[in-house]
Amino acid sequence: MPVYSISHIENVRVCVVMVGLPARGKSLIAQKIVRYLSWLSINSKCFNVGAYRRALVSEKGIDATFFDPRNKVGLEYRESAADAAIEDMMKWFVEENGVVGILDATNSQVERRERILQICRANYIEPMFLESWCDDQALILQNIFDVKTTSPDYVNKDESFATHDFLQRIKYYEETYQTMDKVRDVDLTFVKLINVNSQIIINRIESYLESRIVYYVMNLHIKPRCIWLSRHGESEYNLTGRIGGDANLSERGWRYAKRLPELVLNSLGEENKHTNLTIWTSTLARTQQTASFLPYKKKLQWKALDELDAGECDGMTYEEIEAKFPEDFKARDDNKYEYRYRGGESYRDIVIRLEPIIMELERQENILIITHQAVLRCIYAYFMNVPQEESPWMSIPLHTLIKLEPRAYSTIVSQMKADIPAVSTYKERGTSQLGESSISSYASKSRDLINNSSSLAKK
Ligand SMILES: *[C@@H]1O[C@H](CO)[C@@H](O)[C@H](O)[C@H]1NC(C)=O
Ligand SMILES: *[C@@H]1O[C@H](CO)[C@@H](O)[C@H](O)[C@H]1NC(C)=O
Ligand SMILES: *[C@@H]1O[C@H](CO)[C@@H](O)[C@H](O)[C@H]1NC(C)=O
Repeated sequence: MPVYSISHIENVRVCVVMVGLPARGKSLIAQKIVRYLSWLSINSKCFNVGAYRRALVSEKGIDATFFDPRNKVGLEYRESAADAAIEDMMKWFVEENGVVGILDATNSQVERRERILQICRANYIEPMFLESWCDDQALILQNIFDVKTTSPDYVNKDESFATHDFLQRIKYYEETYQTMDKVRDVDLTFVKLINVNSQIIINRIESYLESRIVYYVMNLHIKPRCIWLSRHGESEYNLTGRIGGDANLSERGWRYAKRLPELVLNSLGEENKHTNLTIWTSTLARTQQTASFLPYKKKLQWKALDELDAGECDGMTYEEIEAKFPEDFKARDDNKYEYRYRGGESYRDIVIRLEPIIMELERQENILIITHQAVLRCIYAYFMNVPQEESPWMSIPLHTLIKLEPRAYSTIVSQMKADIPAVSTYKERGTSQLGESSISSYASKSRDLINNSSSLAKK
């Protein structure tokens, strides 16, 4: 079975070296890149120098003076931490077949960047510098707020102390900060984001993989917004347990469609009730019918949001599939992510066709997506960082509206059930029967994935 992955097209390994003062959103960008690439099955990992530093120096004694460029002891610790992070990254490239490693640190001086460059070259790793440069005070203040409320450096610290101390830390870094320079660094591969993406300088991007990363970061924005997800209402096929097809909604499915506008309004809350959402559906009748009572003007159909193509099994029930193609049935249960239906698709195939959707989704503001079980699982897995072996087994019930609120370091999930019964379309591993039994650990694990997803997000 051919497996698509960018890293198979060219044999490239990249070290993304973050550059920038504290509170410029570097960690956030680094984590998003890792989540995006992992979702695309590209082995990537973030190495945060701050975490290494905290392991070396007991946290209690650290305040801004530790970062004073004249503090020799502090300087030594910081260099050891950076060296340890780079060493671990180089090991990871070799021992775990790493493809994209991200060095998350300020790397704010030319001398340090030079050193990283040499280590990368000696190990045949392509270095790519990614600088977040920012002088927009409102943005910086927002970032400071995020850092001081989430950084391990300020756990249990007084809030005004944290703000003051962090501002002082930034001042110390500013004394020695050298930004990426179009003339001095002309031979290096680098991207410089100026005030998020108001202006972007791109220099000497060489591989396809690098260009994918650049394209991704170009699409990121940080405006607050929410994403709502819903499956289509119960369809006539679901009543008889058939998969695929292009059926109409059942009577109960229509009831869900009529209830949906109210669910959305409740979820928006009183003060935002006039907010206009963009609606995306697939090209199949059941998602469009589900969207048909929503009062919003912007509605878009995407072929890429269509349900997983079951190929020769389209229109069959799981029992019929088990009887007709017993080996396929078992193969799918054994590795649901990779299994491709005869003449149809696998979950991996869906992820590949969803990539442009994810890219566009990053650019969008408030949006509601009405689509199908398998597609929703893949979109959800991207936002919540759900591992591949689990995502195809997640339970996403019918007649439920899911709300995702992306925050700086996590995504908050909530779900609202419309009180309209529907058949269960969840199939557990190892059976052709639909429905969730309370004894199955897989089903309950999957339920946990969604219900406790706010804790999942923090992992
Ligand atoms: C529900 O029905 C639709 C067809 O209307 C089908 O695509 C989908 O796979 C069904 N869900 C399940 C899990 O049976
Ligand atoms: C769906 O409903 C329309 C209009 O009632 C009907 O013409 C069409 O045949 C139905 N489609 C299916 C697949 O049942
Ligand atoms: C939403 O769209 C409607 C109609 O297109 C418009 O009248 C309304 O002002 C918009 N609301 C907001 C909050 O932008």
